[in-house]
Amino acid sequence: MATLPSLSQAINAALLTRQPRAKVMAARKVTRDWRLGRLAFRFDTPMPDAPGRPDAPELLAPNRMPRRGKAGSVRGRLALWHAVAHIEFVAIDLALDMAGRFGAQLGEAFVADFLQIAAEEAMHFAMIERHLRGMGGHYGCLPAHSGLWDAAYETRHDVAARLAIVPMVLEARGLDVTPAMLERVAASGDETGAKILQRILDDEVRHVAAGVKHFVARAEASGQPADSLWKSLVQRHFKSGLKKPFNDSARGSAGLPRDWYTGLVPLTSSGNTDPREAAGGIRPSPR
Ligand SMILES: [Fe+2]
Ligand SMILES: [Fe+2]
Repeated sequence: MATLPSLSQAINAALLTRQPRAKVMAARKVTRDWRLGRLAFRFDTPMPDAPGRPDAPELLAPNRMPRRGKAGSVRGRLALWHAVAHIEFVAIDLALDMAGRFGAQLGEAFVADFLQIAAEEAMHFAMIERHLRGMGGHYGCLPAHSGLWDAAYETRHDVAARLAIVPMVLEARGLDVTPAMLERVAASGDETGAKILQRILDDEVRHVAAGVKHFVARAEASGQPADSLWKSLVQRHFKSGLKKPFNDSARGSAGLPRDWYTGLVPLTSSGNTDPREAAGGIRPSPR
């Protein structure tokens, strides 16, 4: 019998895919192929330090991002949805990298969870890209934030740190900021947009929950109390601290205990929410 291609090879290829539509297809194909037993649970290909990116959008440091125009203006709406599209695009790679980089260590259930998440992020991106086109734009028509991969790179050697930061801080942040954005979008009469955001919010609760589940299992396996391990990893890798307000009910549904995150808010935290942080659950890494 011919040997099946390895899971790591397929994930690596999807990560390196540059064009947005091709990446969406690649992420969904890896997930489907894995489910159908077309890939071997073999990790013989390293994950790239940086995933493939299309020529556009141009990636800019946060302080070089142009102003977005007034909320509610056509330009403002386009900029908002473009920012969310970028978050979802990077989220595809974050989930693929999680499965491909740490799958050998954490096992098949872990891989299945994060490939499912990758396929959902691909769906989120595709829905938003379609919505952007409906308003005369497309992914790449504006510049985007360059920092979204930083947290992944910083935690590339430690699965506990990766789980602590990516699903449990960044995606959890999406749970906090999406409801307000959803309300504004609905109030503006954009029903399609509101439906997309609701779908994303529902999915993101499960993404955070997957992060919590595997993080806690990992902590238990290493004999460390999950809460203190999480807090110390967040302090080390997410130095700006968490930001209020928290969506306690969505965080609770995801299994994130309130007493874990409330203690990590710096006293200077302003509590302002930037809609650019919404939806994909990934907020720009603070540098
Ligand atoms: Fe997600
Ligand atoms: Fe998402």
